Amino acid sequence: MSRKFFVGGNWKCNGTIEEVKKIVTTLNEAEVPSEDDVEVVVSPPFVFLPVVKTLLRSDFSVAAQNCWARKGGAFTGEVSADMLINLGIPWVILGHSERRLLLNESNEFVGDKVSYALAQGLKVIACVGETLEQRESGSTMAVIAAQTKAIAERVSNWSNIVLAYEPVWAIGTGKVATPSQAQEVHFDLRKWLHDNAGAEAAISTRIIYGGSVNGENCRELATQPDVDGFLVGGASLKPEFIDIIKSVT
Ligand code: G3P
Repeated sequence: MSRKFFVGGNWKCNGTIEEVKKIVTTLNEAEVPSEDDVEVVVSPPFVFLPVVKTLLRSDFSVAAQNCWARKGGAFTGEVSADMLINLGIPWVILGHSERRLLLNESNEFVGDKVSYALAQGLKVIACVGETLEQRESGSTMAVIAAQTKAIAERVSNWSNIVLAYEPVWAIGTGKVATPSQAQEVHFDLRKWLHDNAGAEAAISTRIIYGGSVNGENCRELATQPDVDGFLVGGASLKPEFIDIIKSVT
């Protein structure tokens, strides 16, 4: 089966209302492949979600960068999945390495978040990835398997999950994974899904790559059979994000 190419833009903790409107205008004016061929989801900070959802072209979608693991209540500072649904935000990024490392989000906590978000009707971009130390010690797949297992133990239906492999050593560093490095991990991750979540989950789940993707390196990465798209950080704030969307092969 063919998996629809997926390009996410993670704006992280960036932007002013003026800058956000300028980015949206650039996106709205861009000529891009049909939404039958590529799914585009941009993820602004929470405070800009309503305005981006209102102004963004209808063939693109919007994601939050996180949400709480349970129903709302006395959780100061958190944003619940229910609130995102109420705002009409269909996607959420969960388990980003910056939250796992800076905010100590455990595999189990991320798994709980993914499970609750799906149960409320959100679609989830679930992030996994190893540190440079873990790669150099040869434990890349063990780390990623543990992260994915914590999701698989809590989820039975993978149809609303996109998996994002984001090697921590490539995020924000300019040191993009080589196409063969990305393909190797994506292949192993898809085999892990086959063995632990079933053949259908393995065949249909999009596995996207993130970590220093830009307008130049995206095309060769996109040719890899198990690279189904990208989760883009820095370059998603720039016009070159359009080139990355066009890298669908
Ligand atoms: O979520 C995507 C992000 O972690 C990748 O960041 O700036 O390396 O493209 P960047």
